[in-house]
Amino acid sequence: MEIIESIEAMRDRSRELRREGKTISLVPTMGYLHEGHLFLMRDGRSRADCLVISIYVNPTQFSPGEDFERYPRDFERDVALAKQAGVDIIFCPTSNDMYPEGYLTYVNVEKMTAELCGLTRPNYFRGVTTICAKLFNIVAPHLAIFGKKDFQQYQVIRQMVRDLNMELEIVGLPTVRENGGLAMSSRNVYLAAQERESALSLYAALKLADDMYRQGERDARVILAEARKIIEERPYTVIDYAKIVSAQSMKEVTRIEGETVFALAVKVGATRLIDNHVFGDSLEI
Ligand code: PAF
Repeated sequence: MEIIESIEAMRDRSRELRREGKTISLVPTMGYLHEGHLFLMRDGRSRADCLVISIYVNPTQFSPGEDFERYPRDFERDVALAKQAGVDIIFCPTSNDMYPEGYLTYVNVEKMTAELCGLTRPNYFRGVTTICAKLFNIVAPHLAIFGKKDFQQYQVIRQMVRDLNMELEIVGLPTVRENGGLAMSSRNVYLAAQERESALSLYAALKLADDMYRQGERDARVILAEARKIIEERPYTVIDYAKIVSAQSMKEVTRIEGETVFALAVKVGATRLIDNHVFGDSLEI
């Protein structure tokens, strides 16, 4: 497994691979790898000749006061896990190289980024699309793989790739869950034991919504009222949003028709967790 820090070296390596006719898959990460990432990597491994992962905690997607400084980092552990998962190259650039002095260019997807997480995290999507555009330019992958746990992020990146005619495929994979249904996230490490108990209410709320949908309920307000109760009755929880939205526009809907998503962001203690469920998809653990 190669570890590449320099942008030029990564570019050269990709050019060489492409010249040899090899396909490249990319799994972008911010490190502190967990089973959710490993699932994406195993998939990436099976789809291309060369599997690249990026490890970079991207400062531009954090707002002032968020957890950029204390975001969990453990590079040595990540290297060991990546090796086991069959990663060929870890690309781990520095901020001096990614955002050198005088840096002025950002990529912004409009409208859909103003909904859901965009309401409380104003810089988030601009930072994500900018870093992903940069990674796609540097690594030049044939495909890039994202988890659908961050459903809005996944849709925003697809939109950017479509709109900017980027030449790669975006693959979205289902959420990997711990026992009890908690969606895997690097931020789960922040949760104290009792908070972790309360965090299970996110999955319980999605499950209830899914059950109601399967029994024929299509009124979003009826489902939301029941689902919210499950979260609100647990200690330490504060709902940031609980919305049923169109999977395309991310705008709230009153009836479940077409591709529709139940999207949740909940603060559990000091930790903000997100989760979602596309009605009609499987929600098994
Ligand atoms: O989902 C993440 O871990 C990050 O938002 C990503 C896509 C790696 C961009 O920094």
